[in-house]
Amino acid sequence: MKIPSVKNINVKGKKVLLRVDFNVPIKNGKVADDFRIKRTIPTINLLKKKGARIILISHLTDGRASTLRPVAKFLKIDFIPKTLGGEVEEYVSKMKNGGIVLLENLRSDKREEKNGAAFAKELAKLGDIFVNDAFSASHRKHASIVGVPKHIPAFAGLLFLDELKNLQAAFNPKHPFLLVLGGVKFGVKLGVLKKFVKIADKIFVGGALANNFFREQGLDIGKSIFDGKTDIKKYLNNPKVTIPVDIKEKGGAILDCGPNTIKMLKEIVNRSKFVLWNGPLGNFEKKEFAKGTEELAKIIAGSPAMSIIGGGDTIAAARKINGGALMKKFSFVSTAGGAMLEFLSQGTLPGIEALKR
Ligand code: 3PG
Repeated sequence: MKIPSVKNINVKGKKVLLRVDFNVPIKNGKVADDFRIKRTIPTINLLKKKGARIILISHLTDGRASTLRPVAKFLKIDFIPKTLGGEVEEYVSKMKNGGIVLLENLRSDKREEKNGAAFAKELAKLGDIFVNDAFSASHRKHASIVGVPKHIPAFAGLLFLDELKNLQAAFNPKHPFLLVLGGVKFGVKLGVLKKFVKIADKIFVGGALANNFFREQGLDIGKSIFDGKTDIKKYLNNPKVTIPVDIKEKGGAILDCGPNTIKMLKEIVNRSKFVLWNGPLGNFEKKEFAKGTEELAKIIAGSPAMSIIGGGDTIAAARKINGGALMKKFSFVSTAGGAMLEFLSQGTLPGIEALKR
């Protein structure tokens, strides 16, 4: 089965319902991080150039309370504070070729997250074709991801295809292959560990995830964060799996890795031909505990290995270094967080399956 691409289709004069992921931080009514928005521009421009009438739809995580208006302002495009209804239909019926409009947060309607059949059908009625460029939201079985493609011809956008191609590379990597998993949420990351323990040559587990290992080794982790529900016993003595050899702590909690760990990681990265990284190595939001994450970002960016990084916190940390200049040095920076992890552990996503023909 193939995933149809937006690249070669004729959309002139057609109404294109374009699902994007504009779930971005908004502070004081302004877009605080434009990374994801910018990555959707190539698909928007392609459709615009081809003379489509573009109806952008997206969610914001905090549902009914939040609005996408700041994103429309950022992009300098029209905005309708509704997802459905007369006002939307009237606007869409008058759109010109190349026109763009952004509709209100899909999650302002609770049927979006419930994958309501009627909601999906009503959304689909707005467009002649559907394009999914929200790879980073495609792990959600929501109406705008899996429901709409049942009603109108559906295609993958350029960012979606780029994410798919690059993340798929991890299933067939160059060796030696290093996987770095950090941050929290071991529940999701355990699936990735389970899958990649067979594929990777080395897996470094850092951040709060490592606390589970320390605890399992019988070490006192004090007030450090850990995930009591996750059983990592079988990975403890796996020679592929490595954890920090030293740590930085404050107030009885482990908050970063230490210099010997960074040195060790440098040696492993330098031996690797493929590096995949998701999750910070410490409490990077505080300058004093950002060193592990920042140093790793610099080491990976400076290595000739193919490098793929992803996850909201990882990207936020990497973007802070040298005014963001480092970002260009990674082979691929994923816009996905949860979707990246689910794709890596499952090999597919509901949103991918929904596009297959
Ligand atoms: C994300 O930020 O990972 C995606 O936009 C999905 O958001 P969600 O976790 O609120 O579904």
